[in-house]
Amino acid sequence: MTLSAPEETPALPLTRGCPFAPPETATAFRETGTPQRVTIWDGSTPWLITRHDHIQQILGAGAPVSADVTDPGFPNTSSAQPAVEGNIFFRKDGDQHLPVRRILNPDFTAKRSEALRPRLAELTDQIIDDLLAEEGPVDLIEHFALTLPTVVICEVLGVPYEERHAIHEASKKIVQLNLPHDEKMAAHASMTANLRKHMEHKRSHPDEKLLSRLVNVHVDEKGDVTFDEAVGLGTLVIGAGHETTANMIGLGILALLREPEQRSVLLSDPAKYASTCVEEMMRYWSMVQTEPRRVLTGDMEVGGVLLKAGEGIICNLPAANRDPLVFAEPETLDVTRVERKHMGFGYGIHQCLGQNLSRVEMQVAWVRLFERIPTLRLAVDESELHFHDDALTYGLESLPATW
Ligand code: HEM
Repeated sequence: MTLSAPEETPALPLTRGCPFAPPETATAFRETGTPQRVTIWDGSTPWLITRHDHIQQILGAGAPVSADVTDPGFPNTSSAQPAVEGNIFFRKDGDQHLPVRRILNPDFTAKRSEALRPRLAELTDQIIDDLLAEEGPVDLIEHFALTLPTVVICEVLGVPYEERHAIHEASKKIVQLNLPHDEKMAAHASMTANLRKHMEHKRSHPDEKLLSRLVNVHVDEKGDVTFDEAVGLGTLVIGAGHETTANMIGLGILALLREPEQRSVLLSDPAKYASTCVEEMMRYWSMVQTEPRRVLTGDMEVGGVLLKAGEGIICNLPAANRDPLVFAEPETLDVTRVERKHMGFGYGIHQCLGQNLSRVEMQVAWVRLFERIPTLRLAVDESELHFHDDALTYGLESLPATW
């Protein structure tokens, strides 16, 4: 590929010339071998980090970086971010992060997620039954990719199934980059009110699920989080786990539709290839495209450049996960690829809480969909598909398909 010289400080979000490749600017930046500056919405110019080894250096243990969105140097996604996320553990460091992460971890271990597999297969089959009851074409984003993670996250939290629409609408707005401040705050308020109601209810109707454990064990029994903090944790888990997995499911379906030989390999032995397929899709799409973000708390040399305390950092996972220094033939989708060095779920201390759950969801979703609907195909020309590259997560607006 011939790359033109990168613009000096291009504005974020970066756009993609080819929907199946990282933004050209990010790739060109990676090829320079050094961190480069970009301009964000408030006119500030944080560093964009595009090389795999540089991201590991920055997000790895001991690096002088902070995830605190209220730090004046943090490269916020919007003016609303410090108010909306300022008190959430995900945007904190050390003692304000780890103890809370430990409260949530038990519900998202590999073992717990694996135990959900039969239930996930059942839910997936129900959704496919509903799909097949329709006359094609249907939008697989609306009727499959978005439905499954909503149902699953409601299952993990213990939120009643019928609440899923309200949850979906609010979380969609919270992660949207270009939504006006007021609308974002309103979506956040509605999600919070919704969860407060459920948590209050769990006090008199306890169960084994996460919301009940948060309120009954951690708020009322141990007192290690306040009620408001517990509501914040519920909101975070919904927001972080819903749109991300949904977008990945949609992108994975598209990749398997347009590369039938990869689909055949997957279906030839799902027990062997479902997991490698998921890791490869995570690498290939790297759909978290505007995170992780950090602010430097000390000076740090990266790729021969001195990054200074107080400066902002934005990691570009799409470019890093196609780094030819790490991945052989990085532009090729190969569902049999076995190494797992991709950083699609992040890297270091803030690495994704829900990764085990998402992995099982994707493994089940793609195999069941193509096993049950072998004639599945796009209902429009590929060129008519719309991808959103302005949001935190890359994904398809819709995926019209028929069978
Ligand atoms: C395919 C689906 C998913 C992708 C691609 C994804 C990606 C990521 C990435 C890249 C990070 C690191 C952010 C950073 O370092 O700043 C992260 C963190 C996180 N993710 Fe996910 N995620 C997915 C699904 C989920 C699910 C299902 C949940 C629900 C529990 C979840 C909850 C979280 C949380 C709470 C964090 C913050 C962890 C911490 O700070 O300790 N994610 N995710």
